[in-house]
Order: sequence, then C-alpha cells, then structure tokens
Amino acid sequence: MVDDAKASVRSQFARQAAWYTVSAVHRHSAGLDALLRLAAPGPADRAVDVATGTGFTAFALAARGARVLAVDMTPGMLEEARKLREARGLGTVAFCLADAESLPVRSACADLVTCRHAAHHFPRLPAALSEMARVVRTGGRVVVDDTCAPEDRALAALMDDWERRRDPSHVTSYSPARLREMFERCGLGVTDVVMTHVPLRFNDWVRRAGVPAEQRASLRAGLLGASPAAQAAFRVRLEDDGDVSFGWDEIVILGVKR
Ligand SMILES: C[S@@+](CC[C@H](N)C(=O)[O-])C[C@H]1O[C@@H](n2cnc3c(N)ncnc32)[C@H](O)[C@@H]1O
Repeated sequence: MVDDAKASVRSQFARQAAWYTVSAVHRHSAGLDALLRLAAPGPADRAVDVATGTGFTAFALAARGARVLAVDMTPGMLEEARKLREARGLGTVAFCLADAESLPVRSACADLVTCRHAAHHFPRLPAALSEMARVVRTGGRVVVDDTCAPEDRALAALMDDWERRRDPSHVTSYSPARLREMFERCGLGVTDVVMTHVPLRFNDWVRRAGVPAEQRASLRAGLLGASPAAQAAFRVRLEDDGDVSFGWDEIVILGVKR
C-alpha cells in the first residue's frame, strides 16, 4: 500500500517534471510568501527542503542566504531542479534523491525544515513529520505548506475523491486541526498558522495532470452537481467562458522543536 503510493508519486511526477519548471502556480503562490515569512530563512540557517520538486522553495530559501539540502524521491524532478540551479547560479542548494520518511541528515543538524505542496502525497505523513522533527535542532523550525481539507469529514472525503480522480498520486489532504495535532505529537509546538486559498480553473487543473477526456467530463459533472454545501466550501462556479472555477484552502503551519 505504502509502496504503491510512492510508485504512483514517482510515475506522476516523472511525467510532469518538464512542465512543472514553467508552472506559474508552483513557482509562486501566496502560500510560498507565507512560508517564507514564517520560516524567516537567513544566512545562519542550514535548511532542509523536503519533497523539493524542481526546487522552487529551496531556491527561495537560498536567495535569502540559507544553505539548503533539497531532497525528493522523483529523479526527473531533481534533474529539472539541477538545471534550474545552474540557470539561477544558486550554488548553495544541494540536491539529493531521498524519501521524506528517511532523510539523509544527522539528527538535530538543521535549523529549518520546509515542505511545500507535497504532504498530501505522503502515504504516512506522521512518519515524514517525525523525520523532519528528528533532523531539526531544539528551537529549530519546521514549516509545512499544503492544500488542506475542511474540518467537515464528508467535505474532506469529497475533496480527496476529486483529487484522486484527477491525480492518482494524491493520498489525502488533512484538516488544520489534524495537522496541528500531528505537529504536536512530533514535539513540534505550533507557534503560527496562516491560511490562504488556491484558486483553480478546472480545464487547466485536469490538463496539468493529464486526465483522459472521459474522466474529465465526469469530474466536471461531479463539481457542478455537488451539494450546495460543497459548492460553497470549494467556491465552485460556472464561468461565462464555460470553464469552472473552484479552489482549495491552503495552510502554512510553523512548529518549533521542543
Ligand atoms: C508538487 S511537487 C513539490 C513542490 C515543491 N516543494 C515546490 O515548492 O515547488 C511534489 C513533490 O513531492 C515529491 N514527493 C512526494 N512524496 C514524496 C516522498 N515520500 N519523499 C520525497 N519526495 C516526495 C514528488 O516527487 C514531487 O516532486
């Protein structure tokens, strides 16, 4: 089960690596700004960026002076990240192929650990979080930025269902309360939380994930036919151009290692 989920991540992101580097949604977002505000990276920081993808978060940390070890388990994403590193001349970022559950870092060595837009792909987020807590020193910061589910279980299940039908490597999105609880269990005292929103357009959303045409139609019908509560929670709206707009809440959560 866990291995299947990880194989699904590798195959999904191996296909997406090239376009990911040019994706405006991923290069910049309100969530990344909030992550940088909460993480407050600086020249004194040894940082680890977990599930770095093509390195956008790692580059933002390095641009503020941090030395960064950036890890990901999809080789194609790291290849693109290395090309971008050369193009940007950011030699203070080192990339390494690794699983979030097994970081190639000694305990208590990092000042800062970040993880953006990836936790919903982890088959065992508690295991990955406890690994992040292991590598950060006492008083160090762990910042996770991810789309998050409503507290209402039925709405959360619906969000997961839509996400999985679009991208089989989606595991689950957690609610803010559940994320807080997981942080605290790992010895990470939550000191700040910022909520933002990810606005999406259906046609772009399914195209990016390579969803086949017949599945697109049923997914679109699912959004437009959802209950009024779901349509309100996910801001579903049929636009004048025929596309459907909707969106997810995004959480940025800072925990300090006790
Ligand atoms: C949406 S992308 C990453 C975005 C990136 N953090 C950023 O800020 O642009 C998700 C990444 O998570 C990686 N990933 C998913 N599960 C992982 C795991 N268990 N260990 C390491 N990387 C993982 C995927 O390979 C993929 O590159």
